[in-house]
Amino acid sequence: MDNPEVVWKKIQKMHEDGADKLMFISDFDCTLSKYKDSEGNRCNTTHAVIEGAMSVRHPELADKAAEMDKKYVQFEYCPIMTVEEKIPYMVEWWENSHNFAVQAKLTRQEVAEYVAKSRVYLRDLAKIYLKKIEENGLPHIVFSAGVGDIIENVFKNQVGYIPKGLHIISNMMVYDENNTCNGFTEPLIHTFNKNSTVLNNDMLFYEEIKGRKNVFLLGDSLGDSQMDLGVKDEGVALKIGFLNFNFDTLLDKYMEHYDIVILDDQTMAIPLEILDYILEKSS
Ligand code: TMP
Repeated sequence: MDNPEVVWKKIQKMHEDGADKLMFISDFDCTLSKYKDSEGNRCNTTHAVIEGAMSVRHPELADKAAEMDKKYVQFEYCPIMTVEEKIPYMVEWWENSHNFAVQAKLTRQEVAEYVAKSRVYLRDLAKIYLKKIEENGLPHIVFSAGVGDIIENVFKNQVGYIPKGLHIISNMMVYDENNTCNGFTEPLIHTFNKNSTVLNNDMLFYEEIKGRKNVFLLGDSLGDSQMDLGVKDEGVALKIGFLNFNFDTLLDKYMEHYDIVILDDQTMAIPLEILDYILEKSS
């Protein structure tokens, strides 16, 4: 923490305001899911699962997707381009990536089967964390520029179901009558529009989050720290960032963007402890 006093004040305010004012916004890849396993091996992201599923029947498309990742990731992290300059490249990347999944004619069943054998794991204690949010009737938005179908399957496999009150805002696969992917939902969610500005009052859960001004936010990239952009009449936002690599070069920047930065830890222990405290005091 850069400023423990400010963090403590935020936590105090959150429990004084109570559970009624609280909402949760979390990123998925490497935030709710692990960055690496207990042996130190890298885990899969949702896009990696799609590329893996494509490689079974269409290795040529999986190879093209991997080549494309190498090209566009340079734009995503380019230190001299502005966000406005990067956005067209991001849209191009996501559209091409979604087109590959359509060309591969991935089926709902193939996706589910591939998730079950992939290395996407929820963090240790994540199940308890998610159930605590659910049991207290609190709304939880999972914002992901990845692929929402993979996230749904991970929750079903590892929690047993999709927790009530948890809303996945992501790129969802659209299927035809034969359960073959023929498109993705709009609006396209990419790295730079992954925030509450893409939520609108047509969304079923909009009423649930109205008036909930305090935000408990979890992310793993610097951009994730802005996922609360657009939350109406925001009160306190407690932002917790998982820094998974390049600790020496990134720590200072993460400390500027997040209230608490958690280094090289694949558990939900710290968010859970803070949540317990907020709920204990406010109930
Ligand atoms: P997020 O994890 O912050 O929601 O962002 C999704 C990440 O996925 C982003 O860093 C770019 C990456 N990505 C791929 O790895 N492959 C792809 O095909 C696309 C479109 C994005």
